[in-house]
Amino acid sequence: MKYTTFDKAFKAIERIEGWFTRDEASVLYPFVRNLIVDSHMVEVGTWKGRSTTFFHLINPFIKITTVDIKDRGFKHEHVEKKIMANDMYAHELIMANQKADFVFIVCLDACHDYEAVKEDIATWEVLTRLGGHIAFHDYEPNHPEVMRAVDEWLENNQSFEVVAKANHILIAKRI
Ligand SMILES: C[S@@+](CC[C@H](N)C(=O)[O-])C[C@H]1O[C@@H](n2cnc3c(N)ncnc32)[C@H](O)[C@@H]1O
Repeated sequence: MKYTTFDKAFKAIERIEGWFTRDEASVLYPFVRNLIVDSHMVEVGTWKGRSTTFFHLINPFIKITTVDIKDRGFKHEHVEKKIMANDMYAHELIMANQKADFVFIVCLDACHDYEAVKEDIATWEVLTRLGGHIAFHDYEPNHPEVMRAVDEWLENNQSFEVVAKANHILIAKRI
């Protein structure tokens, strides 16, 4: 296994259907690429594995768990896939006392609303390690409820600080 460059990794995922853009990938790239060996990354929202495959290619030495509520056939020998019913997967992680170094929350049509984003934050913030990051997708004016939920959360907590905000992605670090 070896690291794949940004350009080669993005080229490789172009054939996989999905919404993950080059601009979005460029914001996430340094964070995921810099995770040390055996770090744990959780992605919430697999779809067909476009972003998941990108993360694996740019850093094949981390453990990636990708979670979805529906199985669309994505399989990868180095990526663990979980199908989640409600918050059962988060619950399993809490029971196992495992935390993630990086959580990528992929908002989607079903969860762009304020309450759903708040619920996702509540579920995943407790599973993010100190020094770890949560990245929110769709943090942009066309999704005002995503922005409102994330902004209110940031205003009211001292445990996360924003370290990147560009190209529809906001990344907060647990401090
Ligand atoms: C926009 S797609 C993900 C795109 C994908 N990351 C890519 O690169 O193409 C959003 C996915 O989130 C899943 N999803 C919706 N609600 C969810 C939830 N509460 N937990 C986990 N996955 C969820 C949907 O089934 C869908 O596959």
